[in-house]
Amino acid sequence: MTITAQHHETELPSTRRRVAVVSASVRKDRLSPTIADWVTSALDDDGRSDVDLIDLADTVLPDDSELYPGGGPSTGVAERIAAADAFVFVTPEYNRSFPASLKRLIDWHYAEWKLKPATVVAYGVHGGHAAIDHLRGVLGELHVVTTRRAAGLRAPWESLDDAERFVPDARTARELTGALAELGWWTDVLADARATGTFPG
Ligand SMILES: Cc1cc2nc3c(=O)[nH]c(=O)nc-3n(C[C@H](O)[C@H](O)[C@H](O)COP(=O)(O)O)c2cc1C
Repeated sequence: MTITAQHHETELPSTRRRVAVVSASVRKDRLSPTIADWVTSALDDDGRSDVDLIDLADTVLPDDSELYPGGGPSTGVAERIAAADAFVFVTPEYNRSFPASLKRLIDWHYAEWKLKPATVVAYGVHGGHAAIDHLRGVLGELHVVTTRRAAGLRAPWESLDDAERFVPDARTARELTGALAELGWWTDVLADARATGTFPG
């Protein structure tokens, strides 16, 4: 049956997307929950996402002495990562990379990430682009597909309103919209591929 664009919009059920938003900073007085709120609101607005906010400040991982290649003993967040269809990493840039808290979360899981898409919302004095690039390389090792577009926020602490909410400029808002649109496309494609395909590896 040929499905017209009109039928497609009105009759096909749209699948819900389970998106885990990982807020990476664990510092006192950190900015990452503020940026994660902005991302979560944008996902809520798309009407198709069920968001699980994973705040690494509340996430206890085992000691690294227990770690071995491909993960380690099951962690308290493994099921939440496994349940997600897609990830948004909200991360500061520390010393030209992403923080150790996020690297530990990544290293402590393996199959939970596999063949899922991710995008990155990074921030820092210079826009967080080094953190974005480093994450792309690490995530590629785990068969995570990263979106071409990502959001890099330059000194977002200078763009808070009276309620301490992040207020993006138009260009930054477009960056997030574009990154999330790509993420949604990959989410559906890879959910179908995981369900029906055989991955060579
Ligand atoms: C240890 C450390 C290293 C940092 N290195 C960088 C850096 O390399 N590039 C940058 O743009 N900002 C850097 N910053 C500034 C952070 O981007 C800024 O403090 C940001 O608010 C940190 O995010 P958070 O408040 O969510 O932890 C660094 C901050 C810290 C604490």
